[in-house]
Amino acid sequence: MKTELIQINTPFKEGDLAALDRAADCLRAGGLVIFPTETVYGLGADATDAEAAHRIYAAKGRPSDNPLIVHIAEPREAQKYAKTTPLYDRLASLFMPGPLTVIMPCRDTIPRAVTGGLSTVAIRCPAHPIARELLKRAGIPIAAPSANLSGSPSPTRADHVAEDMDGRVDMILDGGECEIGLESTIIKIDDEDSATLLRPGAITVEMLSAVLPHIHIADAVLAALPENAPVLSPGMKSRHYAPKTPLYLLDGSRDACAAYLRSHTEKNAVLCYNEDLPVYREFLREGCCFPFGSVADEAAQAHRLFTLLREIDKLGFLGIYAPLPGKSGLGLALYNRMIRAAAHQIIHLEEKEKQ
Ligand code: TXA
Ligand code: MG
Repeated sequence: MKTELIQINTPFKEGDLAALDRAADCLRAGGLVIFPTETVYGLGADATDAEAAHRIYAAKGRPSDNPLIVHIAEPREAQKYAKTTPLYDRLASLFMPGPLTVIMPCRDTIPRAVTGGLSTVAIRCPAHPIARELLKRAGIPIAAPSANLSGSPSPTRADHVAEDMDGRVDMILDGGECEIGLESTIIKIDDEDSATLLRPGAITVEMLSAVLPHIHIADAVLAALPENAPVLSPGMKSRHYAPKTPLYLLDGSRDACAAYLRSHTEKNAVLCYNEDLPVYREFLREGCCFPFGSVADEAAQAHRLFTLLREIDKLGFLGIYAPLPGKSGLGLALYNRMIRAAAHQIIHLEEKEKQ
């Protein structure tokens, strides 16, 4: 299949809306269109068409029991596809359009091919102007997983999308870099005042707590699950978002990390906070140290994480070392993605010191 790559400006310039109309026509005809969102790029198809959903699974190399998120143009459209509740309305009024996905019981307007056979559906109303305009012009809900090959880091730039998906989809809409860089927060509504967090994201637990008295954090968010444990969200398996180069997370003070890295410089890349650069440059070779953002700037770290993992993966290092993030605010989303990318290889430095 020939993939057409089209640049779209925001704010829209002449020609951009015509290109979005062509992409919308392609989606209505059952085609596959990759588009930017504020989180990561999505691989879209008509969410009401089971055949189109199968095409998504084939293009990604993803098992068809791993459900897709249904994207909508306006929060109120959710009721056409899901059995919404007053809690959904409260969440939507605060956080949509935006990086929040809500799981609710599914209506029969969405085929089971999209929900991976489940009786629930994940609904998200993205905030990115290109995603919104595409949804509006298509006039259909769009099923879209992240636009990476199954298992590799989610793409946050069109060139990363093309690396994985050129020749596998009809169109790629290049809208530049995704602002957030990590996928949406996913919660499953349990009852009127409680929900389960399945995937942390830019809508943090702290933000959700304002309207949700009880948030249960699914076990898989923070830890590795045993191979045969029941999984609430099929995409939350223990190794995921993984670069090909092994990633190791360092759990310890900044001094302990620096001391450890001094003795592990050979052919390794280091993801480091900007503040650590001067110290690391004393013992790391040029080109081995990759600044990840300021230590307090989790938004910058989130924005860069997947890009850095993809770029470092091309450079032939033996391993990548990175600090283990904290678990509050956006840190929880970084923690969740990084333990998966590292396949849970965490080096506990203070314990090593005690030994
Ligand atoms: O930010 C995002 O959410 C991006 C952009 C493109 O919107 N999309 C995305 O989709 O990350 P995907 O397919 O890569 O991740 C969706 C996750 C998967 O882990 C899937 O298992 C889970 O959501 N999921 C979807 N529907 C579900 C359901 N009904 N019950 C439980 N988990 C569900
Ligand atoms: Mg994904």
